[in-house]
Amino acid sequence: MTYEMTGKTVVITGAGGGVGTAAARRFAAAGASLVLADLNAVRLEELAGELAALTTVYGVACDVSSVADVENLMAEAVAETDRIDVLINTAGLWVEGPTETMTEADWDRVVDVNLKGTFFCCSRAIPELRKTQGCIVSLSSDCGVVGTPETAIYTASKGGVSLFTKALALELAGDLVRVNAVCPADIMTPMLQYQADTYGGGDPEGYFKRLLGSYPQGEKARFITPEEVAELIFYLASPPAAPITGANISIDFGTSAGYGYE
Ligand SMILES: NC(=O)c1ccc[n+]([C@@H]2O[C@H](COP(=O)([O-])OP(=O)(O)OC[C@H]3O[C@@H](n4cnc5c(N)ncnc54)[C@H](O)[C@@H]3O)[C@@H](O)[C@H]2O)c1
Repeated sequence: MTYEMTGKTVVITGAGGGVGTAAARRFAAAGASLVLADLNAVRLEELAGELAALTTVYGVACDVSSVADVENLMAEAVAETDRIDVLINTAGLWVEGPTETMTEADWDRVVDVNLKGTFFCCSRAIPELRKTQGCIVSLSSDCGVVGTPETAIYTASKGGVSLFTKALALELAGDLVRVNAVCPADIMTPMLQYQADTYGGGDPEGYFKRLLGSYPQGEKARFITPEEVAELIFYLASPPAAPITGANISIDFGTSAGYGYE
């Protein structure tokens, strides 16, 4: 089942990335007007060009870790389309390694984008979402649900997103604004490729194999596609999801479900 989103405005951060691009395509196919934000202005232009045949698209270069940029993004969305119905927070960064080796710069970079960026995008969209009884979907992670070794900063940032989502859902429930997070395991996107290239010790395929080795599907394990995550985001922004708020929805092949057989 699909739903028409004509007349609705969807703001997507990190729109130049794997999940953001898939979400932009999904909502464009449903007729929503799109306000796409990313640090990468070139990628934004390409995507806006691709989707212009389907819907109205605005690209806004934005660093979500800057509150001034975020305020400008929301102001642009309203100036161009007069409303915000859906905010999708996908802008994110990855860092991994032993906690004792992490620097202040690692912490600031990742937490500023993943947690502070998500927080202020939500915060500054609230007045418009109240008017439209809109909704927020933020990208948390399986790392926002369970601990994994050598990902402490990323995990702290996503754990923050997951619980912030619940707190904000309660705060906005009376306005019928819904706030949810999705918690994927490994999605085949530029971020996952970056992880393998940067932290795979020169053997990206080995890195991928190690990740999939922890999946309960064993030999049949595979990575999630960005389109599968986009479909879940779309569902959460659609009418049948009306009772769903304050949820952290796992999309992870069961990797966060508990212990396996071994
Ligand atoms: N790929 C995975 O395996 C995976 C798994 C679970 C959760 N997630 C989360 O999903 C979200 C999307 O990830 P992805 O895999 O599509 O990553 P990606 O790297 O493909 O895309 C992320 C996008 O965010 C943008 N970005 C980075 N810093 C920014 C900033 N300061 N301001 C604005 N934009 C900025 C990048 O330019 C990029 O286009 C992230 O929050 C990530 O943590 C990813």
